Amino acid sequence: MNCYCGPMCIFIIVILIFPLCLRLYRKLFLVKFAVKNKVSLVGKTVIVTGANTGIGYQTALECAKRGARLIIACENKPLGTKALETIIKTTGNKNVIFKLLDLASLKSVRSFADDVLKNEERLDILINNAAVLMRGNEMTSDGFQLEMQINYISPVLLTLLLIDMLKKSSPSRIINVASIAAKYAKNFTPETINSYTDHISSYANSKLGNILFTQELGKKLKDSNISVFSLHPGITNTGIAIKNFNPIFRVCAAIFSRVFFMSPEEGAQTTLYTALEQGIERFSGCFFEQCKVAKPYKTATNPALAKQIWDVTLNLLKYDEDKIR
Ligand SMILES: *[C@@H]1O[C@H](CO)[C@@H](O)[C@H](O)[C@H]1NC(C)=O
Repeated sequence: MNCYCGPMCIFIIVILIFPLCLRLYRKLFLVKFAVKNKVSLVGKTVIVTGANTGIGYQTALECAKRGARLIIACENKPLGTKALETIIKTTGNKNVIFKLLDLASLKSVRSFADDVLKNEERLDILINNAAVLMRGNEMTSDGFQLEMQINYISPVLLTLLLIDMLKKSSPSRIINVASIAAKYAKNFTPETINSYTDHISSYANSKLGNILFTQELGKKLKDSNISVFSLHPGITNTGIAIKNFNPIFRVCAAIFSRVFFMSPEEGAQTTLYTALEQGIERFSGCFFEQCKVAKPYKTATNPALAKQIWDVTLNLLKYDEDKIR
């Protein structure tokens, strides 16, 4: 057989075929969860932080579709309101509200929680989804490393402030969206929780914080009917990573990530799985990936560290652990 297909031609075919196969695989296997699972959220209240865009938006949209009372929590009012309008229009569910939540400010977290405690009747699912990247070299007015506060410290405070309400509404769930980046955590200790070395370990350490907090909280809540899960959503094309790049690099990165990364809808599946799937309560404290329990990364297999980080975090927040029981 004559074959005129040289190396260049094979290269081009691979370049074209590979992304197509990848997309097809994702379409067939990944978006399935939300399609298969029929759990209704009528009568339930769900909070999604960072619900204005990306995975958070898709998560919120699916919860609204299922009839939940949905609270969109984010720091950008125009974007939050826009997401609210789109979600109401798409789902027909008018029981959707926006509340301002700036995770870079503990005061904002407290007033958000107060507002929820005062004005809501219940809380069934809290989804700590919001996160930032490449902001570790900034400080907040609370005196914390900005990225650590937004990704880890503030979500911890928010969760603790809402625990009683989750308890009253139980069975209920807390979902902490972490990341595979936690693998690359470096020198994350009670002493370094607030220090900055570089962008990668900054993000990785905050995401390891999410996983360790989930483990420890799972232990504390084992006699309650609140389940807590952390997860890796998959490498998703949400724009979070490229928000701070220069324009030319951003265009290339945007094209690359459209081809190789998951869409936000696909990226929301593991979050939705941990929020909705029945019968996974026994895995409380665990870490999930691709809609199943996953082995935690080596960096997250130190129960003593989980306890130390828990202690120092509650200390920083001046939060008395006895309030959880
Ligand atoms: C948890 O739920 C079970 C089953 O509904 C119930 O019997 C039990 O009292 C609940 N426990 C707590 C601590 O609320």
